[in-house]
Amino acid sequence: MVYSIMDYNNWLNYKGLEYREGILYFANLNTLELAKRFRTPIYVINEQIVRRKYKELKEILNSVYKKNRIYFAVKSNTNISILKILLSEGSNFDCSSTGEIYTCLKSGISPDRIIYTGNMFTNEDFEFAVEKDILINLDNYSQLKRLLKIHKRKGKDTNLISFRFNPEFGSGHHPHTITAGKEIKFGILENQIIKAYSMAKEFGFRKFGIHQHIGSGIIDANDFKKPTEKFLNIIEKIAKDLGIQFEFVDFGGGIGIPYQPNVNPIDLTKYSKILLHSFKETVEKGDIGNPFLLIEPGRYITAEASIILTQINTIKDNGYKLFAGIDAGFNTLIRPTMYGSYHHIIACNKKNKENIVKYDIVGPICESGDVLGKERELPVLEEEEYLAILDTGAYGYTMSSSYNSRPRPAELLINDGIVYKIRNEETFDDLISDQIIPEHLK
Ligand SMILES: Cc1ncc(COP(=O)(O)O)c(C=O)c1O
Repeated sequence: MVYSIMDYNNWLNYKGLEYREGILYFANLNTLELAKRFRTPIYVINEQIVRRKYKELKEILNSVYKKNRIYFAVKSNTNISILKILLSEGSNFDCSSTGEIYTCLKSGISPDRIIYTGNMFTNEDFEFAVEKDILINLDNYSQLKRLLKIHKRKGKDTNLISFRFNPEFGSGHHPHTITAGKEIKFGILENQIIKAYSMAKEFGFRKFGIHQHIGSGIIDANDFKKPTEKFLNIIEKIAKDLGIQFEFVDFGGGIGIPYQPNVNPIDLTKYSKILLHSFKETVEKGDIGNPFLLIEPGRYITAEASIILTQINTIKDNGYKLFAGIDAGFNTLIRPTMYGSYHHIIACNKKNKENIVKYDIVGPICESGDVLGKERELPVLEEEEYLAILDTGAYGYTMSSSYNSRPRPAELLINDGIVYKIRNEETFDDLISDQIIPEHLK
């Protein structure tokens, strides 16, 4: 089935947005009131969308292969309230660093719900993960020896181990988010993967998983076809050659969302056919064991659940171009500057219909690359009005910075019409509090 491009209003409604008498509402709350009450820029997250998106995916998995687990990719959103919401839905968690593991543990997530898919692991990373009994997806067979030493030193059982496979077919919304291919640093290529598992066997590991993640922001389900075929073939080969039965097969994340109103959402029926059904058929052949099926979505679950509210401070017509200067910049949301990513931007106090003008929406950072939206068609804007930047719940706050010594913004969570502040805005003191002044400069 091919999804039709959603009507604009439906597209907004799906993300919890609607105009009521010209005013933008998010999660049923007036965005102008929110912006004035809590100050801008500010991240605002809709709890119900996080829950709905998790459930959507879980239902698709359950309908094909019951023995499944979703591992939310924590790198996309590390707010403890979001992690707790997902935990309450039954999620597991994929971490890319020990800092993310620490945050998960502090959120009340038990170690057996965490998988650590790092890369270029240090001994300290291994020490931390082994100490806390966290399952690791190794990124190279060379890391086995160091890991084993740490297992031994800590008197920990060498039981379950997993490797990340690089299927050489990658995809993503930008070259930097494509994570498979010979030139790419991630995972183990086909010609070394058998060696990795036979070494693990020699080293005494008795239970095995396998992982791949081909990239991020994938909107065409067909992009999963070749890597999935290759992955399943290699899993069968490892199983047959080495007599290994897999405990789990982890297909990674990567499911994209429609950032633009004229882009079709990913066809999840096709995704299911390409990935879930083929996996099920492979398992039914009986050679690879009876593994759990894992996926690690980040963006799909949280991106559409959040907006940034921002205030226009300057309308500049330089005689050549019209700029709308706002109080959010690439310090607040770096995706447009880093990847050229599109985030839809709309006015909080008028629907995009009348008196349309083209603006470059620019932030306050002292760099020309600080452009949140290029040549955006918007109704005539005025200074002190408010805008909403959409789809900021994944790789938004987690990639923000305090560049130009601008404190990071606060985060709000809305649930059932109630607003919760789930992160304070940074203060100037936060920005300097970790600095140490040598005696002679005091
Ligand atoms: C190993 C791994 N798993 C999952 C993800 C999540 O990707 P996405 O947010 O596109 O679903 C990433 C993203 O970079 C990743 O590196």
